[in-house]
Amino acid sequence: MSKPKVIVTRRWPAPVEARLSELFDVTLNADDQPLGVAELQAALRSADALCPTVSDRISAEVLDIDGIRARVIGNYGVGFNHIDLKTAATRGLVVTNTPEVLTDCTADTAMTLLLMVARRAGEGERHVRHNEWTGWRPTHMMGTKVTGKTLGLIGFGRIARAMAHKAHFGFGMRIIFNDPYPPSAEIVNALGATACASVEDVLREADFVALHCPGGEATRHLMNAARLALMKPTAFLINTARGDVVDQPALVDALTSGRIAGAGLDVYDGEPKVPDALKSLDNVVLLPHLGSATLETRVAMGMRVIDNLEAFFAGKPPRDRVV
Ligand code: DGY
Repeated sequence: MSKPKVIVTRRWPAPVEARLSELFDVTLNADDQPLGVAELQAALRSADALCPTVSDRISAEVLDIDGIRARVIGNYGVGFNHIDLKTAATRGLVVTNTPEVLTDCTADTAMTLLLMVARRAGEGERHVRHNEWTGWRPTHMMGTKVTGKTLGLIGFGRIARAMAHKAHFGFGMRIIFNDPYPPSAEIVNALGATACASVEDVLREADFVALHCPGGEATRHLMNAARLALMKPTAFLINTARGDVVDQPALVDALTSGRIAGAGLDVYDGEPKVPDALKSLDNVVLLPHLGSATLETRVAMGMRVIDNLEAFFAGKPPRDRVV
C-alpha cells in the first residue's frame, strides 16, 4: 500500500522529520521559507495531509478551492486561530492540534517574562552589554518584588494552571483568575486559587496580569484601553497567549503614560511585526514567540502531529481533533 502523502510547511526538528520520512511520503521544507496562498492551495490539492504551523494563515481563501485532495490538517501548535475551522469543516477536512506537550514550557516562558519585567532583567542586560554599568549602589535599577504578590490569570486552562502552580508553590504568589469555563473546585483549591466573577475584578486586584485565553474574534482586544485603565499603576501585563488579545496602541499608551508599570510580551498583533513604540520602551520585555521553544517540547509537538496523522490514516479518531 502506498504511503499517505504529507506536506509540512516549515522545517521541523530533525528527529520529527526523520520519523515523518519513515512513515509517510513526506515533502519537507528544507529552506524553511513560508508558503504563500497559492503554494498552500497546491499542497491541499496534491497531498493527503497538510501540516501547517501557527504562523501559516489557513484562511477561507486558502481552503475555498476546487480539487482538494487533503483530508486532514495536522497543525503543529496548540493554537488554531490561524485556521478557518468553519471552512475547513465544510470542505470535509479534519483538523488536529498539539495540546499538553507544550504546557510547562509555555508557562515557564510566562514566568520568565514576569520575572524579567519585574526585576528589570532585560534593561539590566542591555546596561551591562552597553558598558553603562558603573558599579553597585543602593538605588541602582530597583525593580519590583515578585514573591508573595498576586498573580491574576485571564483564562484558567492548562497553561494558566501550570503558571499558577509555579507562581504559587515557587514564589508564594496568591492566585486569582477569571474563566468562563472554570475547572473543578478540586483543581482550583489544589492551586490555592480564587475565582473572580469578572475579568475586571482580576484586573483591579492583581500585581501581575497574565493572559491565557485563545485568540480570535471572541477575545480580540479583550485588553483594551478601558480594561488596561483598571490595572494598578504598579502592575505588569504578561502575554504568552495571542497578540490580538491586546489592543496594542492602547497598551503602548498605558505603558508610556505610566498607567501600568510594564509588560512582558511573547506575542504581538500582526507578528512578526513589533511596533517601534514597544521596542523603544525600557519597561517592556519582548520575546519572539518563544513559548514552546525548547528542543524537548518542539520534538514532542511534532511527534504529537505524527500520532494524530497515524490515527487518522488508520481510520481511528485522532486524539487531538478540533473539528
Ligand atoms: C501554539 O502552539 O499555539 C504556540 O503559540 C506556539 O507553540
